[in-house]
Amino acid sequence: MSEKKEPLVIREEAGTIYYCLCGKSSKLPYCDNSHEGTDCKPYELIIEKSREVSICTCGETSNPPFCDGSHFNC
Ligand code: FES
Repeated sequence: MSEKKEPLVIREEAGTIYYCLCGKSSKLPYCDNSHEGTDCKPYELIIEKSREVSICTCGETSNPPFCDGSHFNC
């Protein structure tokens, strides 16, 4: 039986955040520009007010980079 991959819950401060969507970043869930030379682009999110977000770690979400509860089906 494989271990369920729970979402990563992190607190983001107000500002512009770039989440990695290519999977190559060494600073996941954040972009470190490792996508350069590929067709992939990071997901830009402007956070107006500090808040907690749930980041998908199972790869099954339909709303990347955020958890949509799909890990319950993994
Ligand atoms: S390093 Fe993955 S999108 Fe930038």
